[in-house]
Parts: sequence; C-alpha cells; structure tokens
Amino acid sequence: MRGEQNSFSLSEDRVDQRAIPFVTLSSGAQMPAIGMGTFGSDHVSDDEVAAAVKEAIALGYRHIDCASVYGNEDSIGRVLQEVLEGGELSRDEFWITSKLWNDMHGDGDVLLSCARTLRDLKLDYLDLYLVHWPFPNFHAPGCSVDSRSPDAVPYIHERFMRTWRQMERLVDMGLVRHIGTSNVTIRKLELILRDARILPACNEMELHPHFQQPELFDYLCARGIQPVGFSPIGSPHRPERDRAETDTVDIEDPVITAIAEAHGVHPAGVCLKWAVQRGQIPIPFSTRRRNILSNLEAVASDPLSAEDMAALAGIDKNCRLIKGQVFLWNDDQRWQDLWDISDGPVIQDHSARGGMQGSDTEEE
Ligand SMILES: NC(=O)c1ccc[n+]([C@@H]2O[C@H](COP(=O)([O-])OP(=O)(O)OC[C@H]3O[C@@H](n4cnc5c(N)ncnc54)[C@H](OP(=O)(O)O)[C@@H]3O)[C@@H](O)[C@H]2O)c1
Repeated sequence: MRGEQNSFSLSEDRVDQRAIPFVTLSSGAQMPAIGMGTFGSDHVSDDEVAAAVKEAIALGYRHIDCASVYGNEDSIGRVLQEVLEGGELSRDEFWITSKLWNDMHGDGDVLLSCARTLRDLKLDYLDLYLVHWPFPNFHAPGCSVDSRSPDAVPYIHERFMRTWRQMERLVDMGLVRHIGTSNVTIRKLELILRDARILPACNEMELHPHFQQPELFDYLCARGIQPVGFSPIGSPHRPERDRAETDTVDIEDPVITAIAEAHGVHPAGVCLKWAVQRGQIPIPFSTRRRNILSNLEAVASDPLSAEDMAALAGIDKNCRLIKGQVFLWNDDQRWQDLWDISDGPVIQDHSARGGMQGSDTEEE
C-alpha cells in the first residue's frame, strides 16, 4: 500500500449503496447491515488485509470491523486516509468499529488504547468500540491452543465494570459514538446491564448457520442490543488453535448448498443472506476481490424465501468454532467454562448490589 498516494477510486463494479441494507440502532444511528472483517487469522499479512479493505471500500463496503490485536490498524489507517483524502467519500459515510484488547483493561489503559487505535486508523472518532473479551487474559498472536497466561482470571464483574466505566468515559469525551461487548454470555450481560450507565449498543458474537445461539440472540434483540455476527461463513481459514475434529463446515451443509444452487450463489452468500434477514450484522473477511464483491452482492439482492429461512433455522448444530481455550485461567479447565455452560466457578460478582455470585451462585 505504501507509495500509492491518492490512488483510490470507486470501482465501476461497485454495489449501489441504495441496495445495501442498514440497521437502525437504539440510538437512532444507522449501521450498515454488513461489514468487512479484518482479522488475518494469523496468516494473512497486514498489507494484504489493508489491500482487501481498500478493495472492499471501492466495491461498496462502508462498515469495517477492526481490532488492535489484529496488529494491522496502522495499515488499514493508511487506506482510510487515502480514501478520505481522495474526496469521493467522507468520514460520515463509514461505520468503523475497533476493539479493546485484553491486556488493556486496566485503569487508564482504555483511554490509551483507544487513543492508539484512533492514531493508527487516522480517525478522530470511532463509531463503535467493543471490549473484545470480558476477561483481561492476554494471549500472544499466533499462540497454540495450549497456551495459558499465568495471570489469567475468570470473569470478575467489578473488574469488568471498572473497564466499562472507562468505555463510558470515551463516549462522554466524544472519542467513540457507541460502546459494546463481545464474547459475553447472558449471565454476564445480566450483571453488565444491571450496572452500566451507558448500555452496550451492539454485542459481537460468533454467528453462522451451524452456530445460531438462539437464546443469546433473542435476549439481545429483546433489549435493543444489536447482534453483530463474526465468522459468518464458518471461518474456513481460521487459525489452527481454533480447529477441532468435531467442528462442522457450514458451506458444505447440504441444506445450504441446495439453497445456494437454487439462487445461483456460493454457499457463503447463503450464510450472509440468512444473517442479514435474521437481523444480525455479518462481518465476513476475504482477501479475494471476487469473494469480497459477491458477499456484498449477496445481501443486496435476491432475498431468501420464508421456506429457505425455515430450513436454515433447522440446521443449527450448536457448533462453536472459536472456543477460546487460550483464555482459560486454570490448567484443568474445559472451554465450556468460558461460556458459562459448566458448573464451575465462572463468574465472580462481589459488588454491593449483586452480593456474592458465581463461585458461588450462578447455576444455570
Ligand atoms: N469479536 C471477536 O472475538 C471476533 C472473533 C473472530 C472474528 N472476528 C471478526 O469477524 C471477521 C470474520 O470472521 P472470520 O474471518 O473468522 O470468518 P469468516 O468471515 O466466516 O470466513 C473468512 C474466510 O472465508 C473465506 N471466504 C469469504 N468469502 C468467501 C466466499 N464468497 N466464497 C468462499 N470463501 C469465502 C475467506 O477466504 P478468501 O480470502 O479466500 O476469500 C476467509 O478466509 C474477522 O475478520 C474479524 O473482523 C471477531
């Protein structure tokens, strides 16, 4: 990308903006109903991701899902600068999300982290800033599935709320327009919603036809929190540490391939049409122009029928792909402990209003 100053222009093949759906958030803000992911899954270089973002913007994407831990915000920032300086598009046409990484939950670190992200992306505000994981448990990019941080801890509600108070300050300061959560459960959200001054506008979570999370999805919708779905086509090139023998493959599911054939699209397009029609915002990643374009075209045209949607609702396999083992805090734990689906001591809430819970009380 370096040395290509002012080489941005909209593509002749771009999708008409009027055809791309939007979601209206509780705040009244309009959020594009599809975004471009930017996680290179530990094998796509920063420059390749940035080139894909530039291609995506030229083809019509206006929503970009970034994170400091992806290590590429500086490269993406150079693209955004070039696009905005090019004059064809303005900042207010974009929805830019970023995320606070786990090692920056401490007092004072949230502001620092947000300031670094804004510097790297070369922006003066974010549309959405998410707490990437509800644990302050660091892991290095590219680590193996057995990697554990010696400082790792379970979800400690007071600690999370100290981080959330700083997230709220970012809104007060005008540095971010919305804040949100990611990788949380209903049990954690019950506590967060009880104590938050500014409620999460969005929750980013794994969502694809084989992992539909219906209870959490309905819980969010009932409370006006917009679900944003990551790994929307089943993350076929995810890192090794996120692969298990029991994992299923959405884009090979016979229900999906049959609907894809009937609509003349790739199975990935069916996953994305399903996502948008169900009401979540998918954020697919791709490095290939053809796929970047066809993913956007899929949500801008030819909706699925009620029969298609019913058939897709029936293929949920409760197959979580991003299990998060590297965030566990004891050697003898299972990944289910992260998601509050085991009997273990998974939540600590010692706050005055909440009393003692978790190790404690919160059985499902
Ligand atoms: N909040 C979180 O904790 C969290 C966790 C994971 C991910 N995310 C976000 O979600 C984004 C998407 O998730 P993801 O990258 O894991 O999974 P994904 O979007 O489901 O899958 C991406 C992969 O699918 C392939 N692909 C894309 N479009 C295709 C098409 N039309 N036909 C065939 N293959 C296609 C891409 O390969 P090609 O390059 O070959 O097209 C790419 O490797 C990430 O980039 C990141 O921004 C957030």
